[in-house]
Amino acid sequence: MAKERPLWRRLTFRLCLLSAALVLCLQLGVRRTWCPEEKPPVAEAAAGRAAPLSRGTEQQPPPPAGRRRVTYVRNGRRGSAAPRCCSPQLPGGRRRKTVRWHIELQPWASPTPSLNYEALRFLKYISTSQISCEHLNLNSLGGYSEPTKKPWSVCLDERFSLIHRIRSKQCRLYSLGLGNDDNQFEINMANSGCEVHRFDPSIKSAHIQEGQHLWYHRLSIDWRDPNPAIAAHKPHSSTKKLGTVLNEFGHHKIDVLKADVESAEWKILENLLLEDVVEQIGQLVFEVHVHWPGFEVSGNDSSVVRYWYSLLRELELKDFRLFHTYKDLSKPQMFLKKEAFNASSCYRLSWVNTRWK
Ligand SMILES: *[C@@H]1O[C@H](CO)[C@@H](O)[C@H](O)[C@H]1NC(C)=O
Ligand SMILES: *[C@@H]1O[C@H](CO)[C@@H](O)[C@H](O)[C@H]1NC(C)=O
Repeated sequence: MAKERPLWRRLTFRLCLLSAALVLCLQLGVRRTWCPEEKPPVAEAAAGRAAPLSRGTEQQPPPPAGRRRVTYVRNGRRGSAAPRCCSPQLPGGRRRKTVRWHIELQPWASPTPSLNYEALRFLKYISTSQISCEHLNLNSLGGYSEPTKKPWSVCLDERFSLIHRIRSKQCRLYSLGLGNDDNQFEINMANSGCEVHRFDPSIKSAHIQEGQHLWYHRLSIDWRDPNPAIAAHKPHSSTKKLGTVLNEFGHHKIDVLKADVESAEWKILENLLLEDVVEQIGQLVFEVHVHWPGFEVSGNDSSVVRYWYSLLRELELKDFRLFHTYKDLSKPQMFLKKEAFNASSCYRLSWVNTRWK
């Protein structure tokens, strides 16, 4: 018996080893089924970080519920971007836009920041068409008054949708302006059958309809909604972001956005880019002013020009192409308060959104 006891003990020991190995195997097995989860969360975290620049996250199919739960926990622990909870569908099929706070600044035009290089790069950019357009004006549709000296140019070539939308009377123009500008462009567009909305804070009543297709609204389009504290006292505030107006009017598309807003154009354009509202616009016709930085644009002269240039490059990144540029020689020939670079204080630029249907 004394001889057998160690054997029994050895057997017990082996049994223990065996069960330990079994338990280990089971655990490994369980872990391995979780292993595929190790990578996707990293990829998703990366997608989350990239989200502000693209709509990529919105287009991916939703992950299975189990994986989503794991992702959520891991994301939370790493303190990375919030999971995909934040881009729900709004009523009417529109998606809430991803919020960005700053545009992407382009590198300086030269190794050491210099106004000279920034100005040359910017002025060359706004003087060069990126795409050709043969039919530039409504006059080509026939029957309208003499072309003005300073036309607002839209592209009516067959390869872009505007001319087709005009023919089928489905087009919509938003026009942002101040005071008594020349309204001939708006009237021509309305006579062509476009629905025209002119936003002008200086008109007398809240809404005026002139003719079948032309509306005036006493609203000024801004780059931010009014401070809620002020809005509470002025519930019918007359200052709104373009995205807010689109939502309120229930409009999803603007065929042409015309803006002549006396130096507010830079911040308005920035807001349209940051909120992806530009994607809802077919063509942009802007008057840009360069005799001073513009409302709420700060920094030294070279930073200001780099900022203007970066805004226009973001438009290009969104597949907008400059098809017409017009240097206004009737205005003071000034660039940032100086007579320099043979520049005018005022240019009219027209872009077509080549991605727009
Ligand atoms: C302008 O400001 C930027 C940064 O704000 C600075 O890097 C640059 O050197 C300044 N440029 C000039 C010409 O002073
Ligand atoms: C200045 O601009 C005008 C109008 O764009 C142009 O005709 C002229 O050649 C330019 N002058 C120089 C020196 O570049």
